Amino acid sequence: MSTRPPVLGIDFGTSNSAAALIDAQGAMQVVPLDGSRAEMPTAVFFNQETHSVLYGSEAMQAYLSGTEGRLLRSLKSLLGSSLMDEYTAVGERSLRYFDIVVLFFKELKRRSEAHAGVPLTHAMLGRPVHFVDDNPERDALAQETLGRAAMEAGFSHIGYQLEPIAAALDYEQRVAKETVALVVDIGGGTSDFTVIRLNPARSTQAERKADILATTGVHIGGTDFDRLLDLSTVMPLLGYRHIGTGNRPVPNGVFFDLSTWHLIHQAYTRKAMHFAKELWTDFSDQALHKRLMAALEGQYGHRMLAEVETAKIKCSISGEDAAVHLEFLAAALAPSVTAAGMEQTLQDAIAQVVRCAQDCVVRSGVAQVDVVYLTGGSSALQPLVAALQSAMPQATLVSGNRFGGVAAGLAYAGSCA
Ligand SMILES: Nc1ncnc2c1ncn2[C@@H]1O[C@H](COP(=O)(O)OP(=O)(O)OP(=O)(O)O)[C@@H](O)[C@H]1O
Ligand SMILES: [Mg+2]
Repeated sequence: MSTRPPVLGIDFGTSNSAAALIDAQGAMQVVPLDGSRAEMPTAVFFNQETHSVLYGSEAMQAYLSGTEGRLLRSLKSLLGSSLMDEYTAVGERSLRYFDIVVLFFKELKRRSEAHAGVPLTHAMLGRPVHFVDDNPERDALAQETLGRAAMEAGFSHIGYQLEPIAAALDYEQRVAKETVALVVDIGGGTSDFTVIRLNPARSTQAERKADILATTGVHIGGTDFDRLLDLSTVMPLLGYRHIGTGNRPVPNGVFFDLSTWHLIHQAYTRKAMHFAKELWTDFSDQALHKRLMAALEGQYGHRMLAEVETAKIKCSISGEDAAVHLEFLAAALAPSVTAAGMEQTLQDAIAQVVRCAQDCVVRSGVAQVDVVYLTGGSSALQPLVAALQSAMPQATLVSGNRFGGVAAGLAYAGSCA
């Protein structure tokens, strides 16, 4: 039995977070953070009707059922940006985005401690290969901010591990012999890759640098797919790409804000609303402008995007057309996400992700990998799986623990450190 304090592996994800620890008996415990589920939506809702703060799926439900208040999602996308220190209105209060991340970590810690039955002071934090592409200063700032938020939430000891390495350490528990794997973690915000030599005999060693042959990552994930699909499916119904008066397309900033999870709120500021209202002179089809204003006045941005995300997942699973239900905006308004449309809309983004995967294999120096291990919610996206398989025809694709695996790997990393 170990007398060392348990280390909570924390996978603070763009869309979902998860936590895991190795208990005093040496068994891996993925914490049921959200009811019975391991994955907890990384969402905070400030309920203006009851003046309470809700987290995870409760936050999403309250928001989507029309409760008055402010929803924050994709907080991880703000790490490393100057927005982190800015104040934002949440009901009668004004809070820094940083403070909201701290609140989320406090809740995650509280739920984990309730499950573990002991105070948790040590954390191993996952981080993507790049929080921010091509900007080492901002990337370092993002990691520092993440650590500071965890400390402020009450952890006294923290470490960091790359998310794809954590995913690999989790997968290693399942391999029987030495295997060279490309571990693919495609989440909400980032796609991360690592080529690693896995061997169960070495899984308890703290130092695995020699086995990690390459890591690459790119800042593209499911929230980008949502944005692209929102822009291609829903936003044209509100005037995006509408050729208006003077034969000019109407200004498009508002459509980008409305379709980007962490920017939606910007579309509702007084200044932005005023600007949008004035746009009517640019529209030749006033019905489109009316719909845009109805979406802004109803603050429907998150709801529309959530419907797009639901349709994306449905279409990805079934291969069939999936309706984006916008009847709350206008009667019978329900455009479809189709398999062919999705493939076309996402083809550039998917190609970038696949290139990043291939680059990882090239950098590793191996001629080919034995296995491509898929994890992260977006690794189930059908056109992406197909593109990866055709880029690496010899490799066996293995689908993994899509939501708790990174947290489990972080707990392993923490217990070996
Ligand atoms: N069956 C599916 N098909 C396609 N996408 C899916 C499916 N299920 C979930 N997703 C997408 O997976 C994403 C969430 O995945 P995950 O929880 O792994 O991300 P995350 O860990 O929060 O993000 P990151 O690791 O990038 O910070 C969401 O964008 C969601 O829409
Ligand atoms: Mg993730």
